[in-house]
Amino acid sequence: MQDEINNTRNAFEKDLALVTDAKLLENVRVKYLGRKGIISELMGKLPALDSKAKPVIGKELNLLKGHIQKELEKKKEKLSLSASVKERLVDITMPGILPREGRLHPITKTLNEINDIFISLGFKIVEGPEIEKEFYNFEALNIPLDHPSRDAFDTFYIKEDVLLRSHTSTVQIRIMEKTKPPIQAIMPGRVYRPDAVDASHSFMFHQVEGLMVDKDIKFSDLKGLLDLFTKRMFGEKTKTRFRPSFFPFTEPSAEVDISCIICRGKGCRVCSHTGWLEILGAGMVNPRVFEAVGYPSGAFTGLAFGMGVERIAMLKYGIDDIRLFFENDIRFLKQF
Ligand code: DAH
Repeated sequence: MQDEINNTRNAFEKDLALVTDAKLLENVRVKYLGRKGIISELMGKLPALDSKAKPVIGKELNLLKGHIQKELEKKKEKLSLSASVKERLVDITMPGILPREGRLHPITKTLNEINDIFISLGFKIVEGPEIEKEFYNFEALNIPLDHPSRDAFDTFYIKEDVLLRSHTSTVQIRIMEKTKPPIQAIMPGRVYRPDAVDASHSFMFHQVEGLMVDKDIKFSDLKGLLDLFTKRMFGEKTKTRFRPSFFPFTEPSAEVDISCIICRGKGCRVCSHTGWLEILGAGMVNPRVFEAVGYPSGAFTGLAFGMGVERIAMLKYGIDDIRLFFENDIRFLKQF
């Protein structure tokens, strides 16, 4: 009997060593501790022993049973621990997933560059509403209802008298209504026009308006300022040219060209073989505008200008279709 107990103990140790999962563990438990298992089979032999051996062997058997129970319990804990470790296992040799990095939209980048140049010259940034009253988009800027130049700034009406602004010149009026000169501000923002969309037109685009008003602002200030701006924006070698033009809110008015940044003025396809590229409108603030905002007659002079941000971005980056800015095609956007 003593031998049987010893053999059982050895057999159990061997069986236990082979257990690698919960199912095998259960098999071992049943084999030794089950109702018809080895331990209960040995217990069944106890009554046949003589009265001297019975308590000794009985004690031995109970010890073995306790031992088996304890060992099974320990193994069970070990198994569940290693299962959770396996769950948390990370394969450090696997290549990582590169996060996609966001970047600024080319229009935002260009806008920031324009803003930075003017901020460095002492200009403040002022924003105005995109939903505007007719007065700010037209009348105050000396564009009367029946004036033909109103067509050029035609826009989307929300209701009578309320519209989506067709240019940022509206903000000039809003600033002057609230502030007395000296004024030195740029006004970036979105504008809207009912144009059919094509490679160079969009129903929405961005402008940056500029305004300086003081006692003695001259046309030469306008020329010097815009020449400096274009050189910083497009490079030191860039030349500027002022052509006489017409805007109701400036007098005199000019259209400003830069020497073609592709051919450096020699003439190419981009500049239609003229050597020049138009980039903005400008002029001296029309006294009628000062009148509309209630400034005393003759007290101030001012310069103003307005540029299209998409146009500047297209020239700077060599983009030939304005629609690319608004289609959200990642292949295009990730190049900036
Ligand atoms: N508002 C004009 C436009 O949208 C641009 C412009 C021209 C603005 C001359 C000005 C200016 O301030 O002086 O076409």
